Amino acid sequence: MFGIKGKQKDSGFEVKKIRKDFPILSRKIYGKPLVYFDNGATTQKPQVVIDIINELHAKENSNVHRGVHYLSGHLTGMYEVARNTIQAFLNAKENHEIIFTSGVTASINLVAFSFGEAYVHEGDEVIISEMEHHSNLVPWQLMCERKGAHLRVIPFNEKGELLLDEFKKLLNEKTKIVSVTHVSNSLGTVNPIKEIIDIAHAHNVPVMIDGAQAIQHEKIDVQELDCDFYAFSGHKVYGPTGIGVLYGKEKWLNDMPPYLGGGDMIDRVTIEKTTYNELPFKFEAGTPNYIGAVGLGKAIDYLLGVGFDEIRAREKKLLDYATEKLSKIEGLKIYGTADHKVATFSFLLDDISPYDVGVLLDQMGIAVRTGHHCTQPLWDHYGTEGSARASLVFYNTFEEIDYFCEGIEKIKKMFS
Ligand code: ALA
Repeated sequence: MFGIKGKQKDSGFEVKKIRKDFPILSRKIYGKPLVYFDNGATTQKPQVVIDIINELHAKENSNVHRGVHYLSGHLTGMYEVARNTIQAFLNAKENHEIIFTSGVTASINLVAFSFGEAYVHEGDEVIISEMEHHSNLVPWQLMCERKGAHLRVIPFNEKGELLLDEFKKLLNEKTKIVSVTHVSNSLGTVNPIKEIIDIAHAHNVPVMIDGAQAIQHEKIDVQELDCDFYAFSGHKVYGPTGIGVLYGKEKWLNDMPPYLGGGDMIDRVTIEKTTYNELPFKFEAGTPNYIGAVGLGKAIDYLLGVGFDEIRAREKKLLDYATEKLSKIEGLKIYGTADHKVATFSFLLDDISPYDVGVLLDQMGIAVRTGHHCTQPLWDHYGTEGSARASLVFYNTFEEIDYFCEGIEKIKKMFS
């Protein structure tokens, strides 16, 4: 059903072929073709990722870094190859600057705890923004409570763009770290993180970037950005759940104490004292999600095969097309109209509850997210409790957007 007319708009991007790589995209929901517009929550998995995970569980499974036997050595090798894949993907200088975690939430909690322990004292300040996901807010609140430090917040304008002049005013000698999202999960805003990093560095303040909603849309170069930390989740970048990455500059990671204690992160343990393993293992206590890591490496190889230039160009076309169509629907208000944004559309329709909109779209086979999207302070800014959110990626089609807009018109009629 989807993807045929779209080819005319795409010149060269073979969406029909690409969609075949993702088995779930051809399934039906209530007898209707699935229109998956909830990519901000999680992205779907290409067959190559599904296959490698199944194959490793079926034929190769063995714990890493622990055995002298063939299987353990083999999977340890694959786990470390996955680390090298991520290093190359992010253009990190060293492969030990890549820490595997369970996801972006774990990565941010790690930095908030360990950086906090090493560098934050009573009266110090941490800067975040008003549009952060709770995952990039609550860990810093916890750390500030523990250390007697204070949270400072960069505000945004009505379009959903951070106010950099206000940011500059927040920086002072008490600021210990800035942590901001690259792309807003609720608004789709792409923040000017290079500028934010440069401004913070001019004050000798390190910067952590929450890349959860950016990594699937843009090619990241951590050396070019010069960010101090960058975090993302595997499942948001077409990989498995339960695996994530923390990139950190070696100089910080070396000086930060471990976050979790346990196996693998130690050098020598006595009852009196433990010395710690070198990077990256110091931050990888316990059995890691090694199959997830290999699956993530596979997902990245797949994306590089599609090509980030192609992905960006395709998603920009979807963004422009959907923006134009949605803005013609009377009574539909889009939250997040930044000049630089991804194809994420948070919206309210007349005074219909977003929950009702989501449930009715679901009946049509369209998956969107409803609620506060884990960004309650952002919705406090707008004086509302949340939205319905459609988040699109390269495998979505223009026909799906047409169908979605027709669905919204139907819902409007039902309530009029
Ligand atoms: N953080 C994810 C989202 O925005 C779950 O939907």
